[in-house]
Amino acid sequence: MPRFYVTTPIYYVNDAPHIGHAYTTVTADALARWHRLMGDDVKFLTGTDEHGLKVKRSAEANGLTPQEQADRYSARFRDTWQLLDISNDDYIRTTERRHHVAVQALMQAAYDNGWVTLGTYEGLYCVACEAYYSEGELEDGLCPVHKRPVELMKEDNYFFRLSALADRLLEWYERDPAAVSPEHKRNEALGLIRGGLQDISVTRTSLDWGVQVPWDSSHVFYVWYDALINYATAAGYGSDPAQFERWWPAVHHLIGKDILRFHCVYWPALCMAAGIDPPHRVSVHGYLLVGGEKMSKTAFNQISPSDLVPVFGVDGYRYHFLRDQQFGPDGEFSYEAMVARYNADLANNLGNLLARVSAVVQTKCGGIGPAPAPDSPLARLAAEVYRSAADAWERVSPSEALEATWRLVRAANAALEEVEPWKAEPGPAVDAVLGDALEVLRLVAVLASPALTRAPAEIWRRIGLQGDPGEARLPEAAAWGGYPGGLPVEKGAPLFPRLNG
Ligand code: ME8
Ligand code: MG
Repeated sequence: MPRFYVTTPIYYVNDAPHIGHAYTTVTADALARWHRLMGDDVKFLTGTDEHGLKVKRSAEANGLTPQEQADRYSARFRDTWQLLDISNDDYIRTTERRHHVAVQALMQAAYDNGWVTLGTYEGLYCVACEAYYSEGELEDGLCPVHKRPVELMKEDNYFFRLSALADRLLEWYERDPAAVSPEHKRNEALGLIRGGLQDISVTRTSLDWGVQVPWDSSHVFYVWYDALINYATAAGYGSDPAQFERWWPAVHHLIGKDILRFHCVYWPALCMAAGIDPPHRVSVHGYLLVGGEKMSKTAFNQISPSDLVPVFGVDGYRYHFLRDQQFGPDGEFSYEAMVARYNADLANNLGNLLARVSAVVQTKCGGIGPAPAPDSPLARLAAEVYRSAADAWERVSPSEALEATWRLVRAANAALEEVEPWKAEPGPAVDAVLGDALEVLRLVAVLASPALTRAPAEIWRRIGLQGDPGEARLPEAAAWGGYPGGLPVEKGAPLFPRLNG
């Protein structure tokens, strides 16, 4: 059984969840659901990043202890994922004991292998990034990511000998060209490696809010060298070798481009240093922009999922971000575009297909759904759509997968408009077009279930099918003719009531 272990970044607990965090998490959720449909052995991990200077300062500003700050904000992320029907199998918090154990074990391995050594470090530090920058990397003297002043920091600490791993990293990139995608992000990572890697300080003495260094208790690990290890912790590193064997290295990381260097350079190098395989896949997406800018606390431009779900529903929310934001490039968030997409694809196309079919089955077929025609012209399209959608999900392109799926919805609506069964006399022509439309509804409910967590089950219920389309198995469930006919069809309230712009 193929294994699919998908992860999101673990989010900092200094910030409230917004649609940018939710973008990565919803995408990971849709991929996890797709792979479950394919019958894969799936593990889906998300969580929170709770140590480090940034969280400590944020706690101070809020008059909280770091642990209180972490508890409060970690719960907010967890609640948001519940609101969005996120189906994660585990939720990791870096303050958990299991994580301390794994960080200590993995860093000890890197130390024992000679990749971590003592030295002094002085450099320009951005607290928001929790990272040092060289002069050359600054823009107008400011952090290139946060456009904020950096601080001069000097400390005695342990260094990860990253520079000595450059060749092995390049070898890894060559051996597995698909490891980092899309292509231009892979090139960006290769550029960082070829541009010359410096050793990195991986411990701090100036801070106690972190995981203690096992061989020198006056130090804690630098937050990134604690956070990255979460993916291994949750797979059982240092505690459950059989589990770790099962999930590693079958891991697929989804990340935003802001943390590319950590995931595409530092993390694979650290894996090598500790003697484990680097991750199988890293997929990098761009920023969701609001008013042309990345969302941030300081720009006061953050939008929360809980602002949108009451208007669009969970399905409307998830569908918009998966369908309209291409995975890869930056994309501007637009409320108007969200309304337009909801009305076009959900209210007018899918919702209308269900409404028409269920209404006409009442008047022309006595409320009993007819079976599809085995030689329907839609059968070929359905097979094509399945292939395109499957290929797009494999390539982490939900927007293309859903675009393909909706081709089938539109074709079923077009067939109905051509035959106009609502005007016709009951008979074989009416049965055929309604049977085909019911089959399309059955099929689309399955293929859309990675994106829509609610409507598919309701569609199945209304057309008389038992069970949950999210628990169907592909490719079998995509074969034309699964709708048996002879089932009672229910006419209900609109699935997606139209929204006024
Ligand atoms: O970086 N558009 O956490 P973080 C798209 N704790 N995605 C966005 C986004 C936006 N405007 N804003 C945030 C950290 N994201 C570290 C990660 S992992 C071992 C440690 C998403 O809370 C995107 O996935 O700053 C980005 O990479 C992540 O949130 C950063 O979350
Ligand atoms: Mg950030």
